[in-house]
Amino acid sequence: MSPSQQALFSTLPQGAPPVRHYLQFADFSTDEYHYLLERTAFIKNKFKTFVRHQPLVDRTLAMIFEKASTRTRVSFEAGMYQLGGSVVHLTTGDSQLGRAEPIEDSARVISRMTDLVMIRTYEQTKIERFAAHSRVPVINGLTNEFHPCQILADIFTYIEHRGPICGKTVAWVGDGNNMANTWLQAAALLGFHLRVSTPSGYEVNEKTAAAPRQMSVGSYKTYSDPLEACTGADLVTTDVWTSMGYEAENEVRRTAFAAWCVNSRLMSVAKSDALFMHCLPAHRGEEVSADVIDGPQSVVWDEAENRMHVQKALMEYLLLGRKT
Ligand code: CP
Ligand code: NVA
Repeated sequence: MSPSQQALFSTLPQGAPPVRHYLQFADFSTDEYHYLLERTAFIKNKFKTFVRHQPLVDRTLAMIFEKASTRTRVSFEAGMYQLGGSVVHLTTGDSQLGRAEPIEDSARVISRMTDLVMIRTYEQTKIERFAAHSRVPVINGLTNEFHPCQILADIFTYIEHRGPICGKTVAWVGDGNNMANTWLQAAALLGFHLRVSTPSGYEVNEKTAAAPRQMSVGSYKTYSDPLEACTGADLVTTDVWTSMGYEAENEVRRTAFAAWCVNSRLMSVAKSDALFMHCLPAHRGEEVSADVIDGPQSVVWDEAENRMHVQKALMEYLLLGRKT
């Protein structure tokens, strides 16, 4: 096959790096994160100063949602338009994905017509199967196991407010869920200390969270008492007691998690300049009290906005590689 024929089989520009996927936080190296975090600051500054930054003109992002979303949809959609591209939005209900078309066939077809695919779904294996048959980069927009774009935004937000996160202490209070798993991967890659306090029976599954490559759980400690986990922390963070897909456990979880509420007592034992984060949506009076999420230490609105800025850097990187 000649080079020009070969080019017909890829939507990536000539000289672009081979297809990379972002299926979990551990898919990128520490060095790549340093680049992405710096690039995010550059791209955000352009946006804030009304300077056009459109490296993805004519490129299309397919967004597939098998679960509900507000932030992920708006941030990817607005971000892609700002980069000069466009988006296609699919859900299980309005596509053949909901009518049992094999995920491999969907991947083959969608990746011939678009340049990037973002998927929010249930099992991680589903997104892995899609990626294995995709010609274009696939991004995890949340699975039962991981939420890497959110943690990327959280880390960017921390750095914006407090400087480098390396060596700092992050306290996770609540469910050992997709967010907690991803924090664990991030701690190992970015060198901060992660303290996790979950009710008994809802611990992080270390096997799931441990990455296939260089991951170690050395910078990670578990606590049965959330107060102890938060003592001296630089960042306290939590999430809903019941994640999407686990609604049947709602009542049982309400009882189990009652003591895992980030309130002013928990914040009072953290460092005096500690930040509070929550990926949102939040339930005031359950995992967080209103005075904390709406209080002076909370940076949840910056955190939500930063989803868009980090994802713009991520999409640019996946399609075009490093820019100087
Ligand atoms: N944090 C987050 O992913 O929000 P959505 O569920 O609204 O996308
Ligand atoms: N852990 C939550 C995050 C929502 C953004 C969930 O999976 O529902």
